[in-house]
Amino acid sequence: PTVEYGLEAPFSVEYHDSVGSTNARARELATEGAADVAVLADEQTGGRGRLERAWSAPSGGVWVSVLTRPEITPAQAPLYTLAASVAMARAIREAGVDARIKWPNDVVIPVGEDGDYRKIAGILTEMEGETDRVEWIAVGMGINANIDAESLPEGATTIRDEAGDVDRRLFVQRVLEEFDAYRNDLESVVPAWRDLALTLGQRVRIDRAAGDIVGEAVDVTASGALVIDTDEGEQIVSAGDCEHLRPV
Ligand code: BTN
Repeated sequence: PTVEYGLEAPFSVEYHDSVGSTNARARELATEGAADVAVLADEQTGGRGRLERAWSAPSGGVWVSVLTRPEITPAQAPLYTLAASVAMARAIREAGVDARIKWPNDVVIPVGEDGDYRKIAGILTEMEGETDRVEWIAVGMGINANIDAESLPEGATTIRDEAGDVDRRLFVQRVLEEFDAYRNDLESVVPAWRDLALTLGQRVRIDRAAGDIVGEAVDVTASGALVIDTDEGEQIVSAGDCEHLRPV
C-alpha cells in the first residue's frame, strides 16, 4: 500500500509501511518510466547491501531510494554515491552525532583513536544505461535511525544509541534536500566529501578481486576513486573494485 508521506521533498515520495527493498521498488518504477521519485519505507523485509549482502532494515530506520534520470555518464555515477554519503553524514551530524565517511560509501562513527568505527548508514547505488549515458540511477540510502543497535548486526550503531531518536519526517527531508543540492552541483561533492572523510590520511588495506593493496589513503580523484600511496607508488582504486577497506 502506498500512501502520501506529506513531507516537503524535492522528489515525489512513495511511502510504504513495509516493502521488500526500496531499491527493488525503485528499479520497478524505472522500468515504468518514472523519474524523480523517492521510495521510502518504515521497514524492509529483504533489504539489500553492497556485494549481494543482506541489509537489516527493521521498523524505525530511514530506508529510502531516490530514482533519477540524470544527464551524466556512467563514469560520473560514483559522484552520486558520494553525494548521498555527504547528504546522510550532514543530516546525521545535525542530529548531534559525529558522523564521518569511510570510503567509498559507509557513514560511520569513529571509536577511539586507532581508526576503528561503527557503521551508522550505507548506500547501494544501482543504474542502467549505455557506455556514454546513464538512463536511470537509483541511490538507496539506509540510515540506522530510531533502532536499538543491539538488534542489528555486530559493528553497527544507530542515531538512537548515539544521540536519541530523531523526527524521521524532518530527518529524511534534510537528507533529500542535501542530496538534491549536491547532485545539482557535482563539482562541490568531492570537496564536501573530503571534509568529512575518515579514510584520508589513514593507512589502509583494500581487498580487491585483483589483489590487496596496502598503503596510505591520500586523496580522492574528481570521479571519486581513492588514491593510495603504496611502496610501489600511487595506485587508484575505484569504488566498484573495493570489496573491503580497513585501517591497518
Ligand atoms: C551497504 O552498506 O552495504 C549498503 C546498504 C544500503 C541499504 C539501503 S536501505 C534503502 C535501500 N534499499 C535496499 O534494499 N538497500 C538500500
